Amino acid sequence: MSSGNGGTVTEPRAADGDLALVIGQDGKRFILRLAADTELQTHRGVIAHNDLIGAEWGATRHSHLGLPYVLLQPSLDEILLHLKRRSQIIFPKDLGYILLRLAIRPGMRVAEAGTGSGALTVALAWMAGPQGEVHSIDRRTDMQELARANLARLGLQDRVTFHLLDIADGFPIQGLDALFLDLPDPHNYLLQARQALHGGGVLGAILPTANQVSSLVEGLDQQGFSQIDVCEILQRFYKTIPARLRPVDRMVAHTGYLVFARALAPMLGPAPQTGARESDLDLDATQPIGEEEQG
Ligand SMILES: C[S@@+](CC[C@H](N)C(=O)[O-])C[C@H]1O[C@@H](n2cnc3c(N)ncnc32)[C@H](O)[C@@H]1O
Repeated sequence: MSSGNGGTVTEPRAADGDLALVIGQDGKRFILRLAADTELQTHRGVIAHNDLIGAEWGATRHSHLGLPYVLLQPSLDEILLHLKRRSQIIFPKDLGYILLRLAIRPGMRVAEAGTGSGALTVALAWMAGPQGEVHSIDRRTDMQELARANLARLGLQDRVTFHLLDIADGFPIQGLDALFLDLPDPHNYLLQARQALHGGGVLGAILPTANQVSSLVEGLDQQGFSQIDVCEILQRFYKTIPARLRPVDRMVAHTGYLVFARALAPMLGPAPQTGARESDLDLDATQPIGEEEQG
């Protein structure tokens, strides 16, 4: 293959120890860690890992019954949908936006409660990288064991510190850049959340019902948070038949409402008395970033 600047680029190949995705003709997907001399048993025959190791990503291989499988590197959303779960997980469509709103980046300091099955934990560990500091809190041992196992399967276990506690007793870390709450009553823990975040830090939450959101928004107003946003993410897939392109018949209509807010730093004293009134200001002179001027 040409690199476009005169040199040649070698095609990346699957190696022993890599995470791989194999997809049969019927669309059935398997995520596995490649290991020499082992086999994947499927409903369409046995696939030898040795046939996959050394193959180009994107290659087609066959089971012992002669049925074809495509070999790919799994994307993060495919990995998340294949996690073992014992609780409702946050789905990739919501996770993508959560990662952006929490501004997750290498090296940052972030926490979540609760851990649950660890879907968000995996996404945070993946994005915050080896230098990041990811804390995951839950009051249930069984949940943290499951999340630990899910992380270990992906080789991400060293990137997360687990804390077994009830957040009603406060967070074990302070000075966080971001904190995400995925539990039924986040409005009950806003004082603790505010103490854990540094000024300007981002708080996020996901909630299935609108009345839970009302309680949270009311609490955020009272507990030193601002820039409150509530939204939901709708995602609709399409049938990929070029001549009859149209939405699929069924969609997931609702997962949860997303709520985001920023922690305010405490006021250092009374506001200076300048005599200026809001009605005197030329508000048209300020234009939000990204908003185009009309006309
Ligand atoms: C829906 S699950 C979280 C799912 C997770 N975000 C995921 O994507 O897999 C909610 C978790 O919150 C935990 N939890 C609920 N209230 C809690 C509290 N006060 N302190 C700590 N953990 C709590 C529960 O034990 C449960 O595991």
